[in-house]
Amino acid sequence: MLLSSSGFLGLLTLLGAASVALGLEPQNYDFSKYHTMPEISAWMEQTKKENPDVVSTMIYGKTYEKSNITLLKIGIKSDVKKKAVWMDCGIHAREWISPAFCQYFVKEILLTYKTDTKVEEMLKNLDFYITPVLNVDGYIYSWKNSSTRLWRKSRSPGPANCTCYGTDLNRNFYANWGMVGVSRNCCSEVYNGPRALSESEAQAVTEFVLQRSTEILCFLTIHSYGQLILVPYGHPNVTAPNYDELMDVGLAAAKAIKGIHGMDYTVGSSPNVLYPNSGSSRDWARLIGIPYSFTFELRDKGQHGFELPEDQIQPTCEEAYAGVHSIITYVHDKNFNAAATIRATLWMTLLTWWLSSTSLL
Ligand SMILES: *[C@@H]1O[C@H](CO)[C@@H](O)[C@H](O)[C@H]1NC(C)=O
Ligand SMILES: *[C@@H]1O[C@H](CO)[C@@H](O)[C@H](O)[C@H]1NC(C)=O
Ligand SMILES: *[C@@H]1O[C@H](CO)[C@@H](O)[C@H](O)[C@H]1NC(C)=O
Ligand SMILES: *[C@@H]1O[C@H](CO)[C@@H](O)[C@H](O)[C@H]1NC(C)=O
Ligand SMILES: [Zn+2]
Repeated sequence: MLLSSSGFLGLLTLLGAASVALGLEPQNYDFSKYHTMPEISAWMEQTKKENPDVVSTMIYGKTYEKSNITLLKIGIKSDVKKKAVWMDCGIHAREWISPAFCQYFVKEILLTYKTDTKVEEMLKNLDFYITPVLNVDGYIYSWKNSSTRLWRKSRSPGPANCTCYGTDLNRNFYANWGMVGVSRNCCSEVYNGPRALSESEAQAVTEFVLQRSTEILCFLTIHSYGQLILVPYGHPNVTAPNYDELMDVGLAAAKAIKGIHGMDYTVGSSPNVLYPNSGSSRDWARLIGIPYSFTFELRDKGQHGFELPEDQIQPTCEEAYAGVHSIITYVHDKNFNAAATIRATLWMTLLTWWLSSTSLL
C-alpha cells in the first residue's frame, strides 16, 4: 500500500515537474523569463481556461507562414455598450521585452480587478484586446539561433528581383505609406513592402480594428528600446488635432513610470524625439479616428538594446504597467465620467424645471 501510494505520488510529482519544466504550469508561469511562441500560446489557452468569465481568445488573422494571430479579449460582461482598448506586442520580432510586457499586463489586471475597484470599473466599461505576439513568424525566427536573434521584420519573401526576406510591419500600414523613414530596398530593416497592407499581419490588425473603430478609444503598440512614449504622427508635417492632449497624457504616463524605479521616458512625436517614419500602426489608428494612440519604446537606452537581460523584465514591466495604467485611467474617466456628468446635469435641469413649474402652479 505504502509503496504503491508513494509510487503514485512520485508519478504526480514527475508529471508536475515535466509541465513546470515546459513552462506551461500556469501558477508557475515565470513572468520574469522570455518565453517561446509555443509557451506563450499555451499560456494564452490556460489564462482563458482559468478565467472563463472575463477572458476569451480570438484568432483574427494568419501570418505569412500560416500561424494563427491570436488575441486575448479581457472584460467583465455588461449590458451597457462598452468601449475598448487595443494593445499589441511583438510587431518587431527581436523586441522580446514587448511580448513579456503584454503577458505581465494580462496577469496584472486579472490579479488586481478582484480587489482594486478602479481596475474592476475599467473592466466593466472597457474590453481589452491584447495581442501578445503580432509578428508570430518573426518571433519564432528570432528564437531559432543566435544568428537570427535580431530579426525584426515579417518572414514573407521579397519581390522577385530580391533575395532578402521580410517587410517592416510597422511601415506597412495605410498611413502616409511610403512617404518618409522607409526604404524601397527589400533588404532594409525598414522596407515598407510592395504596397500598403501587403502583409497579412498588417491586414489582420486593420480589419479587426476597423470593425471596431468607434468602440476603440485607445490604441497602444509596445516596442523596445529607447524609453520613449511616442504620439502621432511620424510624418514631420502632420500634427494630430489633439496633439496637446496626447502630450499631456503621455507626460503623465512618463511621470508615473518614473515614480516606480526612477527611469526617464521621453515623450514626443517620432520626428521630434526619434526619427520620422510613415506607415506605422500608431499613425494609422489616429488617422481612422481613434483618439488616443501611443507607441511605447520600453527599456533600455541602448546598453543592451534588444537583448535586455531577463533580470530587467520584472522592473521594466512594473514601470510600463504604471504608464499604461495612467493612460487608460485618463481615457476611461474622460469617457465614462463625462457621460455620468452629462446624466447628472440632465437630471438637475429636469429637477429645476419641475420645481420651478410646480411653484408656478
Ligand atoms: C489555428 O487555430 C485553429 C483553431 O483553434 C487550430 O485548429 C489550428 O491548428 C491552428 N493553426 C496553427 C498553425 O496553430
Ligand atoms: C540559424 O538558423 C537559420 C535559419 O534557419 C539558418 O539559416 C542558420 O544557418 C542557422 N545558424 C546557425 C549558426 O545555426
Ligand atoms: C526590383 O525591380 C523593381 C522593378 O523593376 C525596381 O523598381 C526595384 O528597384 C528593384 N529592387 C531591387 C532591390 O533591385
Ligand atoms: C515638410 O514641409 C517642408 C516645408 O514645406 C518641406 O520642405 C519638407 O519636404 C516636408 N517634409 C516631408 C517629409 O514631406
Ligand atoms: Zn519596434
